[in-house]
Formats: sequence, C-alpha cells, structure tokens
Amino acid sequence: MIVSGTRVDGYSLLVYGRIYRSMKQIILVLLAIITVISLIVTTFTIDQVGREDQRLKSDLQYRSTLLAESLKETVEPNFINKSEDYLQNVVERFTDTERFAGLGIYDNKGKAIAISSVIPEATSAAQEVIANAMDADKANGDFAKFQDKKVYLLAVPLHDEKSVVGALMIVQNAGYIDSRLTEIWKNNLVRLLVQASLLSFAVLLLIRWIIYKPIKSLVKTLRLARSGDLKQDSKKLKNSFLFGPLVSEVTNIRRSLIEARSTAAEEARMRLEKLDSPWTSQRLKEFIKDTLKNRSIFMVSNREPYIHTKNGGKIEFYIPASGPVTALEPVMQATAGMWIAHGSGDADRLVVDSSNKIKVPPDEPKYTLKRIWLTSEEENGYYYGFSNEGLWPLCHIAHNRPTFRKEDWEQYKKVNQKFADSILSEIKDLERPIVLIQDYQLALVPRMIKAQKPSATVGLFWHIPWPNPESFSICPWKKEILDGMLGADLLGFHTQLHCNNFIETVGRELEALIDLEQFMVTRNNHISFVKPFPISIAFPNGPGQNINYKLEGEKALKNLGIKTKYIGLGIDRLDYTKGILERLKAIEIFLTKYPSYKTNFTFIQISPPSRTKIKKMREFAQEVEKEVERINSLFKMKGWKPIVFLEKYHTHEEIQKFYKLANFCLVTSLHDGMNLVAKEYAAARDDEKGVLILSQYTGASKELKDAIIVNPYNGEQTSEAIKEALEMKEPEQKKRMRDLRETIKDYNVYRWSAELLKTMVGLG
Ligand code: G6P
Repeated sequence: MIVSGTRVDGYSLLVYGRIYRSMKQIILVLLAIITVISLIVTTFTIDQVGREDQRLKSDLQYRSTLLAESLKETVEPNFINKSEDYLQNVVERFTDTERFAGLGIYDNKGKAIAISSVIPEATSAAQEVIANAMDADKANGDFAKFQDKKVYLLAVPLHDEKSVVGALMIVQNAGYIDSRLTEIWKNNLVRLLVQASLLSFAVLLLIRWIIYKPIKSLVKTLRLARSGDLKQDSKKLKNSFLFGPLVSEVTNIRRSLIEARSTAAEEARMRLEKLDSPWTSQRLKEFIKDTLKNRSIFMVSNREPYIHTKNGGKIEFYIPASGPVTALEPVMQATAGMWIAHGSGDADRLVVDSSNKIKVPPDEPKYTLKRIWLTSEEENGYYYGFSNEGLWPLCHIAHNRPTFRKEDWEQYKKVNQKFADSILSEIKDLERPIVLIQDYQLALVPRMIKAQKPSATVGLFWHIPWPNPESFSICPWKKEILDGMLGADLLGFHTQLHCNNFIETVGRELEALIDLEQFMVTRNNHISFVKPFPISIAFPNGPGQNINYKLEGEKALKNLGIKTKYIGLGIDRLDYTKGILERLKAIEIFLTKYPSYKTNFTFIQISPPSRTKIKKMREFAQEVEKEVERINSLFKMKGWKPIVFLEKYHTHEEIQKFYKLANFCLVTSLHDGMNLVAKEYAAARDDEKGVLILSQYTGASKELKDAIIVNPYNGEQTSEAIKEALEMKEPEQKKRMRDLRETIKDYNVYRWSAELLKTMVGLG
C-alpha cells in the first residue's frame, strides 16, 4: 500500500491508524470547543435580538403615538360634521408613506368611515384594538398580521366635546423589526462560522506542525531503531520547541535499543552456532563471558604488545614484529584482561601510571598492559643470553649451536621470579584466576605461580618448536626447565609432533607418570595436560580496512624503483632460523635456470633487525646483506636488480600492501613453531590471487596444504616452486588461495584462544 508516495508495511499502517485515531479525538475536542463558542454566541445573540426587538418596538410605538396624536388633531375638530369624503381625503393623504401602511377612521360602533385602501376593512385584531381604545378612552396598540405582513396597530379615541365618538387607527409596517432581528442572527451566525472555521484551521495547522509531524517523525525514528536502522537520527526533531527536550532522551533510548538488539542478536546467534562456525572477536567475548564467568585472565609474555619510544621531543609507539604479539593482541582486545610483559621501550616508563600500568591500544584502550622493568644485566643474561643464545637455538634445529652460560641461567631464574612475583601481586586476592604464560623466555614461571597460588589455572604456550629428546638433552638445566614447565596445568604447542617430543623428553629426563592416551604428565601429584593448539591470526579482521591498497602498493613500488611484472615477497625478522640465505640461493638458481625472468621479476625481502646484541644475529644480518649484494651484482642489468632488501621495521599496514601485490610469498624457515607470515599473506589476499610457497619445517605447513610445500635446504626444489608459482594459472591460484583462506578463517586466533581457554577452564 502507498501512503504519500511511501510504501508502508503493516506496522506503518498500525502507526498511521493510531495517529488518525488521535486526530479524531483532537477533532472531537475541537468540536466541543466550537459548540461552547456557539452556545456563547447564541446566548449573546438572543440577548442582543431581544434588546433590539424591544428598542425597535418602543421606537415604533412612540412614533406611532406621535403620528396618531397629530392626525387626531386634524380629524377630531367637528368630527361629527365632517363629511366622509373629507375624511377619506385625509386618510388617502397619509397613506403608504414609508413604514406607514395606512390609517382608518371609525365611528363609535367600530365601523369604518374612511380607510386606506391597503387596510382590509376590519380584521378582528383591528376591531379589538379600536374597541379597547374607545372603551378605555385612551390610545391602544398591538401587533398583528395584515396580509402576512407584520404591522403595528394603534388606535386613539376621537371625541366630540367629552364623549367618545369614534376612533382613529394607524397601521405601521413592523416587518422591518423581524428583518432587523433576522439580520442580527444571520450576521452573528456567519461570524460564528468564520471564527469557527478559522479556529479549526489554525488548530489543525498547529496540531499538524507542532504535534502530529514531530510525533510521526519520532515514531518513525523509533520504528527504524526497532528494525535495526542506525542511520536515521532525530536531528530535525531537536528544533521542535515542544519535543526538543524529549529528543535527546529518545535518542538515548534508541541507541540503547539498537545496542541491546545487536548484543541480543549476537548472543542468540552464538548460542545457536556450532563450534566449527567462524569465530569473531565478539563471539570470543561472549564465549569468555559464558565460560569464564567472572574469572580474570592474565596474559604473560616477554615481548610487550606496544613499545613506546622517544622520537625527538615526541613519544611514539609501535607494535613489535613478533608472532605471539600478532596473535594474542586481538585476543586481549576481546578479553579485556591484563597483559604483563617486559617494558623494553625507551619511553615506556614515561607513559605508565604509578603501578606501571597503561591502558592499550593507546589510541583505543581495551585492556591493561603492566610493564616489568629489567636492568641491562638482567636483560643480557635472561633475554639475550639464556633465552636467545641458549633455548632459541636449542629448540630450533637450524644448525646453530646453543650457548649456555651459568650467569645467564642465574639471570633467567631471577627474571622468571620477577615475572612470577608481579603476576602473584595481581592475582593474590582473586579466586581461581587464569594465567596464560607465553613462550620459552618464561619456562619457570608456571611452577613459581602454582607454588604460591595453587588455585590459579596456569597455562604455558610454547610458540617455538620442541626438539627431539636428544637435542634437548644437551641443556645443562634441562630438568629445572622441564620441572618449571610442568607447574602448568596445560602445556600447549603448535603441533602434535612438538607435543610428542615434549612428552618423550619428560619421559627421558624426569621421574614422572606419563599417560599417552590422555597426553598428561603426573609429577608430584600435579597433572599437566599436553595438547596441540595451532595458533593463528585474527582473520578476517585485517588492519586498515579503509586503505586503498592497490594505490598504496603502486606508490610503494614506484618509490622503490620497481617496474617488473612479477613480485616475490619474503617477510621475516632477520633471524637465522628463517632460512633467508637458503631463499636467496633459490632465487639465484631460479634466475640462472630461467633467464627469461631477468628484468621481469623482483624479490622484495622485508626484514626488521632482531636481537642485534647477539653476535650470531649480527653476523647473520651481514651474511644476508652480502648475499643480496652478490646475487644482485650477478644479475643486475638495465637499471634492474633481482632483490630489493628492506632491512627495517615495517608496520602491519605497510606490510599489508606488499602482501596484496606479491605474486608469491616465500616462507623458507629452517624450523618454525608455526609461522604467521604464511597465514597473514593468505588472509590479505581477498582477491584470491597469489601463491604461498611454504617450508615443510613450519608448523603452518601441517595446516596450509594448498601452499607449494618445499624443503628450504633444497634450492633446486624451491627455485622450481618459484617458477610454478609465477606460471600458475589464475583458476588454480584462486582454488588454492580460497582453500588456504578457508582453513585460516575456520581456525583463526579467536577459536585458538577459545579452545585453549575452554581446555583450561575444564581443568579447574
Ligand atoms: C618468536 C618468539 C616470540 C618473540 C618473537 C620476536 O616468535 O616465539 O616469543 O616475541 O620471536 O622476538 P623478540 O625476541 O623480538 O621478542
């Protein structure tokens, strides 16, 4: 149905119906007002007419008396002797002047002697008036009807000497009195009609503009809000003097309504959804609310999610290049708990409060970051020394010998205790808090927490590989490390292989009961479950949704002087486990075998420097620089070079544009817990183009089966993979990319954390 050009639904009809019913009531009120006004006008008119009637009649009587008396003076002398002709003449002379209808002269029997022709001889009314005048011997008058006309009859007695000998009667037209009175009625009624119409019109206009329209608009706003329309606002209504004050209240109600609706809808949706449907930040929030009830979450890692630095006079922050940070940051934004980490930025202390806390993300705070300060001695021993010169190469089979120093181990223990104390100070009064410790830098923290706060549920997630027992066995403090880790209720690794390696290592190194069916270790009456949780990213919520990446990518290539048709991409911290040298070698082999790609192909390697205080890292960086130089000088021609090496930190947004333009992304880690670059590349490719080449030694290769899987040590194989990627037909690219994206979407980081937390909650 169409109303005023607008298609309306059943609800609108109901609303319009209500509005019209209200209008009817308003019109009834209006009618009542008009009736009262009419009654008043009528009463006044009756009064006015009565007075006017009175006035006109008196006036007529007065004038008639004067006239009758003057005629009497003419007729009376010698009345008896006057001839009938004479009298008739007198009568004719005065007849039919204005308002004066005529006169008659009568004898004492009431018989007409002379009479105006317009007067009928004797009406009973006239006879009565004449008779009464003569009987009473004084003037007598009355109103009567002659030929349907109202007249006034006045009779005066005629005397001869003293006796009454006859009567003179004048007849005055009195019709004008009724006309005048009718005119008054008419005038007053017309006035009433005009006033009532104008009043009704004015009231209707007022109702329409001041009440009806704003109400209609208010109803429409609320109705749209009810149906979930967020765009409609009540700006216009704010100017309505009558409803203005209501508008902000209604606006708030509308907002709350919309929020409540979307929350309710999301909650309902989540209840209905099965676990294998896409996980989002909102779903994780709901899940945490439902599952964790009021239990608080504490995330603990060495690397902090935001690092504040000084830049000239300004304080800036950046998100460090770290897999765990990339994965856990969105989770923390959803859980709104507390993240405890090492404050490593040179401006970190300047922005925290007195308890070393700051709300982050800095531009849109959602959770609390608590920073722990380390002396350089602590940082050197714990972080650079034991963590990254000892455990890092120990766990990665990248053929770099670990270095174990007693003093580093001491610092490692000390700093782990520092982290534990800081966590304990936060959770001491909490009932069954959940503490999620991250990675190899904090292996001793689980035991330290559990010893002081047994009611806490503690998880430790190991982001790097766990080596085979033989490899691990070279660590001088292997038992202490394993014992520290087994303080956790849940130990998570990326893959089943790493879980198996860990269980085997425990079996070899410690006195413990191992249940291979349940994958649990019992030691000193405490159970630790060991399970794989392949970490992921926040797919599909990539950064910078509003950025025009195509344009940005073109600009970036122009700035780098790259004009080639094909682009290959590598993104890694400058770390020897990432297989960067092997990758460069594969590019050399590729260009040697397939020279037609010279000048047509550029490989961009983006590598932020990492842990540069460590000699092996510095040496590795130099080796990569030299290798890039060597290969470039080998092939460079006509202003073209095959490798563009960007040895600096890039933000997530900057990296996105490279992901989006690269024909392939090359991940050649020699050993990697998961490798999130592989997942980020696929997540960025919403055009479903591009090819992922992935090392078989990454955790990611166990999930991302649609990548071209390579052995990074095999340069020939990798070079063939590069050729295959560049020559892959679009439908094949799309099929593979779609499947890769589906895998990541299905098991994103929200699901990862939900499954991890659900398992922890199930443990106690
Ligand atoms: C790996 C580790 C993380 C670490 C990251 C960056 O992914 O598993 O724990 O944060 O590398 O290294 P960095 O030493 O700079 O934190």
